[in-house]
Amino acid sequence: MTNTGNGRTAKLEAGHNQVTELQIMSGSVGPDVIDIRKLYAQTGTFTYDPGFTSTAACQSKITYIDGDEGVLLHRGYRIEDLAEHCDFLEVCYLILYGELPTEAEKAKFVHGVTYHTMVHEQILNLIRGFRRDAHPMAVLIAMVGALSAFYHEDLDINDPHNRMIATYRLIAKMPTIASLAYKYSAGQPFMYPQNRHTYAGNFLHMMFGVPCEPYEVDPVLAKALDRIFILHADHEQNASTSTVRLVGSTGASPYAAISAGIASLWGPAHGGANEAVVQMLGEVGSVDKIPEFIKRAKDKDDPFRLMGFGHRVYKNYDPRAGVLKSSADEVLELLGQGDNPKLAIARELERIALEDDYFQERKLFPNVDFYSGIILEAMHIPTSMFTAIFALARTVGWIAQWNEMVEDPEQKIGRPRQLYTGPAQRAFVPMDQRG
Ligand code: ACO
Repeated sequence: MTNTGNGRTAKLEAGHNQVTELQIMSGSVGPDVIDIRKLYAQTGTFTYDPGFTSTAACQSKITYIDGDEGVLLHRGYRIEDLAEHCDFLEVCYLILYGELPTEAEKAKFVHGVTYHTMVHEQILNLIRGFRRDAHPMAVLIAMVGALSAFYHEDLDINDPHNRMIATYRLIAKMPTIASLAYKYSAGQPFMYPQNRHTYAGNFLHMMFGVPCEPYEVDPVLAKALDRIFILHADHEQNASTSTVRLVGSTGASPYAAISAGIASLWGPAHGGANEAVVQMLGEVGSVDKIPEFIKRAKDKDDPFRLMGFGHRVYKNYDPRAGVLKSSADEVLELLGQGDNPKLAIARELERIALEDDYFQERKLFPNVDFYSGIILEAMHIPTSMFTAIFALARTVGWIAQWNEMVEDPEQKIGRPRQLYTGPAQRAFVPMDQRG
């Protein structure tokens, strides 16, 4: 394949056309892409790319990642700057609307989110139908999907106003639903949202408050949680976001699309890794056991992988892990847990892995999940809620990407092709002639 310079085309010899010219498209930053939309019509061939390792499925203005350099930008702003200077709802506004809000814009947005946090009482009854030991992610998938039954009639996804109401509802209700799932599993009374709290503070109130006494939100915990929310807000076309876009591309309800996104996030190769990291650090148990686990991670016959390490896109330090690493030190110190054994194991594990040829050659670095679980655990958030918190924070990214997709004039129903390797057409065999 050759690039023809200013003409911006690539030439391909394939199929029934000897040489096909394909348009090269450029974004504002990042690699160019070859436009293969007419490839099948022109050559009779498809491309083969399991896992979409080389395929751009859409154009997007929301998030940019340079995986080689370890850079993450939302609407052009570095994640490190956003984590330091903004709160989560400010970042939500940026992700949704493309610009940082003025004070008045932010106040209006915060008010809008705050006043959508209650859920229909029937949601509480639905949650009561689960077994007490149901995983919060299972409850979240079901309840967010169920929202489509509560807001179905009035939802025209082609109406921007309707889409914006769905956006507010989802961002606002996700902490309520996640905390309800937790309260149910703990056998404690459900807590209603309190509008006097911040977004993160309200979540802590619904998680840890009880009706018999007032709950004072610890500002240190609220700030640490808010930062975790910021770091998980969006991450361009990852598995769960692509799932949301794929489901949404059929014109399905945004609640159904986000529910599918939550399902996709649950897997241990994606958002489920933060839970797996804490379990792994517990299994390692002490610093002297680290070499044994590093050895297992490198052994191809052992299914064990170093959880929280490696990333499809980052071939450098995940910038979110960098922020969380310093956050972990700060928060644990403030909570009087400076000598937390899991943090000590994580730091040493990282040091040893980064000096190891196996990890260096494969460019495996800590990802966002490596330190987040330690902070959440120090805040007494149960492990089973870690991925639910990720889902809560990622909701803004999912819904922003869904909105962008619905507005995109080039948007089509997502429908990949395949390389068929099954039997070719053959004659039907009647039952008495089989075997
Ligand atoms: N521990 C040990 N080896 C690893 C790890 C790991 N955590 N991650 C990748 N490798 C190895 C693979 O075995 C492979 O080795 P090989 O070339 O000798 O066969 C090589 O590194 C490349 O890995 P792939 O699995 O091909 O990379 P891919 O991009 O498909 O996977 C993934 C990325 C799924 C994140 C992987 O690194 C992984 O499983 N990590 C652990 C789980 C995790 O932390 N997930 C969270 C990701 S961040 C997020 O979703 C928010």
